[in-house]
Amino acid sequence: MPESNPKFYYPSTDVVERANVQEYEELYKRSIEDREGFWAEQAEQLDWYKRWDKVLDESNKPFYKWFVGGKTNIIQNAIDRHLTGANRNKLAIIWESESGTTQSFSYYALNREVCQFANILKSMGIKKGDIVTIYMPQLPEMVFAMLACAKIGAVHSVVYGGFSYEALASRISAANSRILITADGGSRRGKKINLKEIADEAMKRSPTIEVCITVKHNNLDVNMEAERDFWYHDLKSLPIASPKCKTTILDAEDKLFILYTSGTTGAPKGMVHTHGGYSVYTSTTHKMAFDIKPEDRWWCAADPGWITGHSYIVYAPLINGSTIIMYEGAPNYPYPNRWWQMVEKYGVNILYTSPTAIRGLMRFGDQWAERHDLSTLRLLGSVGEPINPEAWRWFYDVIGNGKCPIIDTWWQTETGGFMVCPLPITPLKPGSAGQPFFGNEIGVVDEEGNQVPVGQEGKLVIKNPWPGMARTVMGDDQRYADLYWSDYKEQGYYTAGDSAKIDEDGYIWVIGRMDEVLKVSGYRLGTSEIESALVSHPSVSEAAAIGLPHELKGHGIYTYVILNEGVTGDKVLQKELQEHVGSELGKIAQPEKVTFVESLPKTRSGKIMRRVLRARALGLDEGDLSTLEE
Ligand code: WT7
Repeated sequence: MPESNPKFYYPSTDVVERANVQEYEELYKRSIEDREGFWAEQAEQLDWYKRWDKVLDESNKPFYKWFVGGKTNIIQNAIDRHLTGANRNKLAIIWESESGTTQSFSYYALNREVCQFANILKSMGIKKGDIVTIYMPQLPEMVFAMLACAKIGAVHSVVYGGFSYEALASRISAANSRILITADGGSRRGKKINLKEIADEAMKRSPTIEVCITVKHNNLDVNMEAERDFWYHDLKSLPIASPKCKTTILDAEDKLFILYTSGTTGAPKGMVHTHGGYSVYTSTTHKMAFDIKPEDRWWCAADPGWITGHSYIVYAPLINGSTIIMYEGAPNYPYPNRWWQMVEKYGVNILYTSPTAIRGLMRFGDQWAERHDLSTLRLLGSVGEPINPEAWRWFYDVIGNGKCPIIDTWWQTETGGFMVCPLPITPLKPGSAGQPFFGNEIGVVDEEGNQVPVGQEGKLVIKNPWPGMARTVMGDDQRYADLYWSDYKEQGYYTAGDSAKIDEDGYIWVIGRMDEVLKVSGYRLGTSEIESALVSHPSVSEAAAIGLPHELKGHGIYTYVILNEGVTGDKVLQKELQEHVGSELGKIAQPEKVTFVESLPKTRSGKIMRRVLRARALGLDEGDLSTLEE
């Protein structure tokens, strides 16, 4: 391709010259022809207690296993191996709060914190395989808690700190969790949020919890129940909390964590990830796509409560020995330069964020970024939904000063790590996530599984297993097989639930979810969850939720409600229902609008035709109505 092709943005020479991966096509070809060889080579760069016998076990599809027979623990690579080498005194975590308080931990200090937490968990009777629920703001202790679980072979289930007590309670119950780790609060926009109060409400509904450990952060008055509630700092001062703890040796396929995510129907599903394959996949994608160097300061501005945070705040950067920046607070509080201040202060080299955050900062104008020296930035990243070209260009020109490639990474909770993304050497097209990552064959196919012609929309499928793939839905193998592997059973494809196009250069353009899943500010929400929350209100008989384009959030939630006989719909009730959804699911799920209706468009089999509601709301053609009943 000639360097002058106006379709592309080319990376600058100094970015290309130092890139960890210098060439895509050849290595890609090799990674497809010998997938197991490629992944074995990557796995060899990590430490193992015992080497694997078999890279990939395909004997029980779609339940693939990776690095079978290998003995490991993700902590061996994320912490232990750094303690003997050059990284021992290097900063692992630099944390800053909204108000500017800071804390930092070297790898050596991180190890002591994690060991102490691990010993506390052990003393509470936590054993290998037990599920520990973590419900916290973005504090260093949240990372310590996750790593402590991993260290002793317990399985963490992190519930995002913005979720409501209902959502927390249902996840605790589904996991049968005995221990909850929380904090007395977090802060957002100068306001203190009392998380322990929400945790208390959840525990009333979750009889499995025997012990709740609370980290003191906000000095808020909280209710501490004798025998159940313990302050973390109290436990930490006991002799049981020794800063020395041996990492438990595990099988590569032992569970590392479960993380709940929304789907088309029913309750959120707990995706299961494991130690071995996940270590290899996340660290390789991180190192290659974001060109990680020992001296880099890496900032993934997500919350550790989502997969982005699990993989790319916590695990991959630690395995790669990076210095991680963590920030607890809003991007634009007290002023819209809060993030740029952080970049300047810490000399951040790589910033990975979401289109919704970029759009949110872009609207305040360029002057907030221009006040800061952002010249340390080398690469930028985006994740969560397709990035609109205006936001891409702003990020590229104003934040990256026209010299930092934007690594737009397409992946999912289920995939563990990046599946489609550029490399620092790749010519870019704003809005496209580029080409498949090594080892992956991505198809855009029709109902029969045939590749659709260039430029046409089809279903995005992954044609092969990869080490970072979720192993199952917790407690429901059948659901895992049905949801992801049943559309193209013969071909053995994984269906992602997204629609996409491939262009004449092989670049993938993700369009969005094909199922009833919304992306609200990058968060994944099922329409069915929002509808169930509405129907749980005593005035509501039936409800439908749809997503409509929203300038900042990507999708805004619009709902249609049929009220029970005798209830009149007025403004007060509208507001009450909006807030009801907010308190059932969490603020992120609060609808933009509630509209009262007499009936809902349904198929003869009783399914709500959300596509019809969407078309009507947007004033578009309603399409084929032959299956419409009323
Ligand atoms: C869905 C997965 C993976 C971390 C955050 C989201 C959408 C994600 C992109 C991107 C276009 C994207 C897809 C996908 N998505 N990244 N770069 N371009 N769409 O994880 O909550 O499991 O959501 O997010 O629709 O299926 P998740």
